[in-house]
Amino acid sequence: MLPLSLYIHIPWCIRKCPYCDFNSHKSPDSLPEKDYVNALLADLATDLNSVPPREIHSIFIGGGTPSLFSAAAYEFLLSQLKTMLLFSPTIEITMEANPGSVEQQRFTEYRQLGINRLSLGIQSFNAQHLKKLGRIHDEQQAHQAIEAARKAGFDNLNLDIMHGLPDQTIEQGINDLETALTYQPEHLSWYQLTIEPNTAFYKENPPLPSEDDAYFLEKQGLDLLKKAGFIRYEISAFAHDNKQAQHNLNYWLFGDYLGIGAGAHGKLTTENTVQRTRKHRLPKEYQNPEKPFLAQIETVTGEELIFEFMLNTTRLEQAIPFSLFSQRTGLSSTALMPKLKNAEAKKLICLTDTHWQITPLGRRYTNDLQALFLP
Ligand SMILES: C[S@@+](CC[C@H](N)C(=O)[O-])C[C@H]1O[C@@H](n2cnc3c(N)ncnc32)[C@H](O)[C@@H]1O
Ligand code: SF4
Repeated sequence: MLPLSLYIHIPWCIRKCPYCDFNSHKSPDSLPEKDYVNALLADLATDLNSVPPREIHSIFIGGGTPSLFSAAAYEFLLSQLKTMLLFSPTIEITMEANPGSVEQQRFTEYRQLGINRLSLGIQSFNAQHLKKLGRIHDEQQAHQAIEAARKAGFDNLNLDIMHGLPDQTIEQGINDLETALTYQPEHLSWYQLTIEPNTAFYKENPPLPSEDDAYFLEKQGLDLLKKAGFIRYEISAFAHDNKQAQHNLNYWLFGDYLGIGAGAHGKLTTENTVQRTRKHRLPKEYQNPEKPFLAQIETVTGEELIFEFMLNTTRLEQAIPFSLFSQRTGLSSTALMPKLKNAEAKKLICLTDTHWQITPLGRRYTNDLQALFLP
């Protein structure tokens, strides 16, 4: 049996950030917490009709802004989940929180409910950059959110920081990282800002740092993180030993996951068939009792499956055993070999008898490496 995780999507935010293309919607004046939690549970019950009982290793409550929901809503949700699923004794339960929607009391209650990992969307500690990013929080609230998380007892804390921001200098980008490091988080996600279609930034086209500046900022940032004892284990993910995000690692190692909530994606393997699912994106549609939760289901096979496996695993720094490929796709690794050899010839990966592993050149040109595995 492949490991199984659960993703729960909360689709509302106080307002939409101009760079964000996640499935997040401006929250109504009064959030339909109770109805939405009931919909999540009904959605899961439907999913479980087609999944044999399996232990759940991680839960990720993402968004949107999950910290808009009360602790009472999560208390009910988690208590019901425990009756429907078998929780692993070492389950990781992460919640994303936005520093603009933080109350000490709420954080303390979340922690008491068994949510044992918090991911804070800090983005930057620089007042001007936070403003330009349209964040609802300022730099003081960024600091307060971290302090509140620690005070609440979160000893597994991730900070999301973005770099390559409009008008950001190398020094400012490094300052953000240095400030984050003063809090000694267990995990850091350091993302380069990407300008996504269908966002306000795409239309506005704000002045981004030059390619050279972006390159030197990344180089200096990576050195700084390394010196601080962080191990880069994925393109944008850095952690101290044993503090990698188990939920995200499961995605990148091509494990299975259920996805409940508006727009949530799922992946399930049954007898060598990989199926991908997606739920209705718009909260109204998702919560419409006349409609099924499921909006899309597709079976992934052959070359497409090889590509998807590589798209995920090339994000990781670790050596990937060929046996993982066979285990997760049901295909023989000989199907993968010609393309791996091609990537090795281009020095993008190195190969042994049992494993392949990305090289520094492969990391620099990850998109080119992944393109070699296109169907
Ligand atoms: C699903 S988002 C939600 C977190 C939370 N809603 C928040 O913003 O505080 C997770 C993270 O993805 C990153 N992110 C979002 N849009 C991005 C973009 N266009 N480019 C790079 N990183 C992005 C941000 O760091 C964000 O914290
Ligand atoms: S708070 Fe997070 S999810 Fe919401 S719009 Fe901003 S970046 Fe997107």
